[in-house]
Amino acid sequence: MSITIEEQKKRAAEAALEYVGKLPSGAVIGVGTGSTANHFIDGLRDFSRHLDGAVASSQASQERLQAAGIEVMDLNMTGTLPLYVDGADESNAALQLIKGGGGALTREKIVAAASETFVCIVDESKKVEQLGAFALPVEVLPMARSYVARQIVALGGDPELRESFVTDNGNYILDISDMDLYDPCTVEAKLNQLPGVLTVGLFAQRPADILMVAHSDGTVSVETV
Ligand code: A5P
Repeated sequence: MSITIEEQKKRAAEAALEYVGKLPSGAVIGVGTGSTANHFIDGLRDFSRHLDGAVASSQASQERLQAAGIEVMDLNMTGTLPLYVDGADESNAALQLIKGGGGALTREKIVAAASETFVCIVDESKKVEQLGAFALPVEVLPMARSYVARQIVALGGDPELRESFVTDNGNYILDISDMDLYDPCTVEAKLNQLPGVLTVGLFAQRPADILMVAHSDGTVSVETV
């Protein structure tokens, strides 16, 4: 019997809670955004006395963490975090990711960068041979939207403004289709250096450290590079 995608997300999130249990008490962890991360946040309710708190990667996760009884902290006050747990839109075998389907990529990338270990939790549909079937989100400052879109076209991509969407940081998202992501680190670097680009949803230079993949047969596999 196979389980649903939603149940897979829950299984991956539950498996990641084991990493929380292994942390010394009083730790502060980073927490991501999205439907998979939401299952993780719900499970953190059982760790409210074990953890000192969490740094949230979005307003939505902040509210959910608080509802789960977890204190939300400012990254400027915590220093390096031992653990960051978040979902992804795609992962390749090198644990390089596309993220930002929920538009929270900037804060996600900051919290991932500030964490010692990034545990990514996904259902099996997110595993890909090559990144790029999922449109690559890029957060841009509003005044740079058209300029950046033209530069992306020059680089071979097809950018589309995410309709009626403003990020937690007050910016826009361009979702890029048809971009050749054969060399994700190079594409990440090229897009990063366009004036007006705040964050590229490619997590290639800093990939996940551990990928927990939940499968339709109910098992969860753990990948590292
Ligand atoms: C949020 O901006 C994203 O990076 C999410 O982590 C990603 O879109 C995965 O979301 P789901 O867990 O909802 O699929």
